[in-house]
Amino acid sequence: MFESLEPAAADAILGLIGEHRADPRPEKIDLGVGVYRNEAGETPVMDVVKKAEHRLVGTQTSKAYIGTAGDPDFNSAMQELVFADSVNADRLATIQTPGGSASLRVAAGLLLRANPDAVLWVSDPTWNNHTPLLGGAGLTLKTYPYYDAESNSIRFDEMLDALRAADRGDVGLLHACCHNPSGMDPSEQQWRAIADVIVERGLLPFVDMAYLGFAYDLETDAFAVRHLAGRVPEMLVSTSCSKNFGLYRDRVGTLTMLAADADRCGIVNSQANSFVRTMYSVPPDHGAAVVSIILNDAGLRAAWVVELDGMRERLSGMGQLLHDALQSRAPGHDFSHLLHSKGMFCFLGVTPQQVERLKKDFGVYMVGSSRINVAGITPANVDYLASSIAAVL
Ligand code: LMR
Repeated sequence: MFESLEPAAADAILGLIGEHRADPRPEKIDLGVGVYRNEAGETPVMDVVKKAEHRLVGTQTSKAYIGTAGDPDFNSAMQELVFADSVNADRLATIQTPGGSASLRVAAGLLLRANPDAVLWVSDPTWNNHTPLLGGAGLTLKTYPYYDAESNSIRFDEMLDALRAADRGDVGLLHACCHNPSGMDPSEQQWRAIADVIVERGLLPFVDMAYLGFAYDLETDAFAVRHLAGRVPEMLVSTSCSKNFGLYRDRVGTLTMLAADADRCGIVNSQANSFVRTMYSVPPDHGAAVVSIILNDAGLRAAWVVELDGMRERLSGMGQLLHDALQSRAPGHDFSHLLHSKGMFCFLGVTPQQVERLKKDFGVYMVGSSRINVAGITPANVDYLASSIAAVL
């Protein structure tokens, strides 16, 4: 049977981890996969996570199954973090999922059960894995214009026109903040206009929130979700704790469903849970238990916010550092978008051939679209990085 299989192509993002690891050059730089790195280029376990893990190990009394929805304390803390009081909580149901990816996959299953004909509109470009994950689940995908590589800005009017042309009942996938891969987010005024179109056209917003706290702060970054929640009858929100709690490999996320009323919400929630049972049965516990300890303890929560603020400030500082280093080495080129992008990613703005040369000749690794993870930049490597970029321009 397996003779019929051909080797699968390496993943455009995760494949870079292995390539970078195998590169013997000491000066190599990894700007590929979206993990946070500190000034030493390391991705340490957050201090607050270590503290919560110690507490968890010391107090946990059972490893028995949790239900399909996961830990209720985690779910309510995450729901409160994301939605605050933007909408009546009896219209919301949150389940714990194995990371943001499983949340997206459960949402896809739910949408297909609700309306197999609905089209899912995704931004052009979007996260590399959105299309295979959500399209592979069986949803029909179409794209709306989002990023203009010439001007390094959002094609906002075209985005709204595309959403206006969508059919009633279609679904719009939106990035809550720190758009992956462009790092360019709508302003609050633009979010209001997006919400107007969604309401006018009867679309269902499906918000992917993988970078809460990485753009401005926890409140500002939740604006899009909270504003939409106050305006629409139905919505889906996927969150991930991979980045803001640094729990990548522990797989922690949520799916929140907003429905028109409490009764409908109960039905939607039952469908999501029954889908979970057919997919991974129950979510893993450890990472979500850690997040629950942190969010439900005032002291740990405050310490988490401080660590998160530090990560965000480092990211924006590195965008600035690379911009300044490039200004002197490539004076004829405009890299000012490095100053405006939010979160981990932005496009460097070089061709796929130049991306290849950066890898081959200089050991600088980034996604083929020239998406860079600015967390890979450090004060120690920025000069080499800027010189390498200047050499391929
Ligand atoms: C990324 O975009 O690099 C991250 O979200 C990691 C991943 O799974 O692709």
